[in-house]
Amino acid sequence: MKDEINKIKEEAMGEIKTLNNMEELEELRIKFLGKKGKLTKVLRGMGKLSNDERPVIGQMANEVRRDIEKEINNTRKRLKREIQKKKLEKERIDISIPGKNFILGHRHPLVKTIEELENIFMNMGFSVVYGPEVETVENNFDELNSPENHPSRDLTDTFYITEDILLRTHTSPVQIRVMKENKPPLRIVSAGRTFRFDDVDDTHSPMFHQLEGLVVDENITMANLKETIDTFIKELFGEDMKTRFRPHYFPFTEPSAEVDVSCFNCKGKGCEECNGTGWSMELLGCGMVNPKVLKNCGIDPDKYSGFAFGLGIDRIAMVKYGIDNIRLLFENDMRFLEQF
Ligand code: DAH
Repeated sequence: MKDEINKIKEEAMGEIKTLNNMEELEELRIKFLGKKGKLTKVLRGMGKLSNDERPVIGQMANEVRRDIEKEINNTRKRLKREIQKKKLEKERIDISIPGKNFILGHRHPLVKTIEELENIFMNMGFSVVYGPEVETVENNFDELNSPENHPSRDLTDTFYITEDILLRTHTSPVQIRVMKENKPPLRIVSAGRTFRFDDVDDTHSPMFHQLEGLVVDENITMANLKETIDTFIKELFGEDMKTRFRPHYFPFTEPSAEVDVSCFNCKGKGCEECNGTGWSMELLGCGMVNPKVLKNCGIDPDKYSGFAFGLGIDRIAMVKYGIDNIRLLFENDMRFLEQF
C-alpha cells in the first residue's frame, strides 16, 4: 500500500508540472484528492489493514495529501502570475509612441476682421444685430428709396429667387428691419454676406461681406457721422490715419459721401500704390439717413435724424492681413489659412 501511495504522489507531482491553466489544475485536484479521487480510493481500503499498519499508512497518506495540496496551491499561484503577465504583455501601452495630433483650429481671417470691427463699434456703444441673407425686394430696394429704374435692380446684377425675393445685394436692408422693429434711439452695426452678379477677379467675388451701421436719434448731424467714422478708422488702422469725405449719391442717404483713408502703404505721403495721391479710395459709403427712408419705417423725420454707413469687410481683411487676391478668402486652402 505504501508503494501505491508513493506512486500516486509521484504521478500527481509529475502531472502538475505540465499544467497550463486553472481548469487543468482543478481537474487534477479532483482526479487525485476528490471524493472518487485516486488517493481517497486508497484510503478507503485502509479497513483491511492490521492495527499496526493503519496509523503508519494513515499518517503517510495524510502527508502525501498535504504535499499534493501544497503543490496545487503553489501551482495555482504560479499560473495566476503567468496569466497576469500574459495579460499585461497583451495590453501593454507604449507610452513612447507619439500621441494623436489634435489640430486645434483657429478663426478665419475674415471672421477675425468681423469681430474686430464689431468690437470697435461695441466700444462706441453700438449693438450688434443680424439680418437674413435672403431678403425681400421691398427691404433691399423699395424701402431704401431705390429708384424703380436703378441699375442694381437689374436681373443681370442681382440674384433673384422670385420676383419679390432675392439674395441681398448689400447689408442696408438690415437698417429697414431695425427701424421697423424698434423705436429710436438706435445705434447698431450688422455684418454679413452679400451677393452680386459679379465675375470673379482678384478683387471681386459674387459673394462678399459688408458691415452696415445705423444711428437714429434726436439731433444727429453730419458732425456725429464724421467723428464716428474718423474714430473707427483710427482704432482700426492707427492714430496716424486720416479720413476724407467726398460727396456721392446713395438713394437711402442725403447728403451722401464716400470715404477715403490715408494710403495703407505710405500713410499719406504718396507712393506707387496710391498713384502718388496719398489716399486709399472708396473704403466706405455713408450719409445722413434720407427722411423718406425714416418715414417708410414709421419714424418721424421732423423729430429724428440719423446717419448710416456701409463698408466692404473683405477689402479691409485683405489690407489688414496683406492678402492680394480675394479668392484666397473663400477657397479654404489649408496652406493659406494656416498662415493666420
Ligand atoms: N449699401 C451701399 C453699397 O452697398 C453702401 C452704403 C452706402 C451703405 C451708404 C450705407 C450708406 O448705409 O449710408 O454700396
